[in-house]
Amino acid sequence: MAAAEGRARTVADIMSRPVVTATADESVAAAGARMRDMRVGSVVVVDGDKPVGIFTERDVVRLAAAAAPAEDRVEQWMTPNPDSVAPDADVISAFTSLSEHGYRHIPVVDGGVLVGIVSMRDLMRIAQIQPAEHLAHEVPRGLEGVVVAETTIGDVRGLEGFYHYRQYDAIELAEMRPLEDVWYLLHHGDLPTREQRDAFSEELRPLREVPDRVASVLPALAQAAPDAPPLDLLRTTASLLGAAEGFQPSLDLLDIELRAQALRVCAVVPTLLCAIYRLQHRLPVIEPNPELGHVANYLYMMHGDVPEPEHVRGVEQYMIATIDHGFNASTFTARVITSTGADLAAAVVGAIGALSGPLHGGAPSRALDMLDEIGTIDKADGWLRDTVARGDKLMGFGHRVYKTDDPRNVMLRSVAERLDAPKVDVAKHVEQRAVEILAELKPDRKLYANVEFYAGVVMNACGVPRGMFTPTFAASRAIGWTAHILEQAADNRLIRPSATYVGPPPPQPVPPVE
Ligand SMILES: CC(C)(COP(=O)(O)OP(=O)(O)OC[C@H]1O[C@@H](n2cnc3c(N)ncnc32)[C@H](O)[C@@H]1OP(=O)(O)O)[C@@H](O)C(=O)NCCC(=O)NCCS
Repeated sequence: MAAAEGRARTVADIMSRPVVTATADESVAAAGARMRDMRVGSVVVVDGDKPVGIFTERDVVRLAAAAAPAEDRVEQWMTPNPDSVAPDADVISAFTSLSEHGYRHIPVVDGGVLVGIVSMRDLMRIAQIQPAEHLAHEVPRGLEGVVVAETTIGDVRGLEGFYHYRQYDAIELAEMRPLEDVWYLLHHGDLPTREQRDAFSEELRPLREVPDRVASVLPALAQAAPDAPPLDLLRTTASLLGAAEGFQPSLDLLDIELRAQALRVCAVVPTLLCAIYRLQHRLPVIEPNPELGHVANYLYMMHGDVPEPEHVRGVEQYMIATIDHGFNASTFTARVITSTGADLAAAVVGAIGALSGPLHGGAPSRALDMLDEIGTIDKADGWLRDTVARGDKLMGFGHRVYKTDDPRNVMLRSVAERLDAPKVDVAKHVEQRAVEILAELKPDRKLYANVEFYAGVVMNACGVPRGMFTPTFAASRAIGWTAHILEQAADNRLIRPSATYVGPPPPQPVPPVE
């Protein structure tokens, strides 16, 4: 702390030097090995003493994923002309201006010469120990871009239009794997072998059953709220399940006990949802079918028929693609609740509440409603222009993190095409025109279709009723929530931020009771 006394800390105070470097024509294998040997997360690529690029461990992961030859040159994979920071820059302003880019390491450059390197993590640590009143002004509304935790579960790179689960591209997982594999990956850290997959599926099967004590009250709940969104009743029944099964505070549980509860909740959510949906429609509840996989069984319990394989696959791809997505509002909620040591059901119930909002998970049925309202291709332009001009939002467009195509949207568009989904042509036209009209009317906002836009089109084509769109999102996201709950509980510290008070200045005299 000594350097900070009397003056603001500068980047020079905290940067590392000498910097581990590489040259552009060096092989990626040599640069990667140096990174590993020197235990650094990146090497700065230099021409003499001038930085010309940065090559990071993320690039090494990309290389491995692309099975690139070891003799590829660094310049083929590095980020050229990286942003840099001056050594005399104040730490807080450097952190603030660089934090939204998602960088991990920034070269420190003085007059064109590389003099050090600083990690965003170090900048953030120093920025965080500044007095709260100083920092509070720096925190963007809605915590946009603020890093609040470390995670090994996954990440979203908004500028690249890329997100991953553990070390794998999430979209590739959705293209290539069954949901159970991705679930296993999130909960165990690795993709399962064939034996592990079979054992996992075996373990899940009995966990799909709703316990009698909970099942017996479902008809009364559905009768009490026959028109309520099924997600609202899932919130209630998830709470009931935790209480009925005696879930203890996560603070008091062993990791293995919490894992068992996580599995239990994820396995039973589809059963609860289908029972609620059918009871609300005065239909008999359908018991889980042990012959079917997780998604096929979900559709089976919804309708009572063994579903078509292409419908199962469409919903499964949607569900895999929505299991996790960085520190979105519901995941953050689950982690905040877990950080208090509360039980796992409490965290899941809170997350369901956060997901239910139209700005988060409640949009897919609204996006499909929008397509219905537009009706035909010739009406699209007028409808879209009027809506944006009125100041209303187009449902299924915009994203806090993606400032380019949402990769989930790109995949779901192709699933909708493959299924030859009803409305797919209108949807594609509306998507294209909406992006163009938003670019015209809201320049600089970078608004594209998000995951919700084709989600409804795909689910509709696969026979999922509109009222079950957001519940289906909840059924997949429960896997992500519980992975985060396990991670939070394993290395916990109470999440308790601060706010800037902006009301009338205290203390005012308290008026006596009238
Ligand atoms: C997802 C969402 C909540 C992100 O919100 P955010 O990061 O807080 O962004 P903001 O709401 O501050 O929007 C920033 C600007 O873009 C505009 N914008 C964002 N999404 C828009 C949309 N779908 N339609 C029209 N304009 C939009 C806002 O009007 C605002 O413009 P302004 O500053 O001129 O008023 C927002 O884009 C949205 O409400 N989308 C529609 C709902 C939706 O699809 N939700 C599902 C999310 S996966």
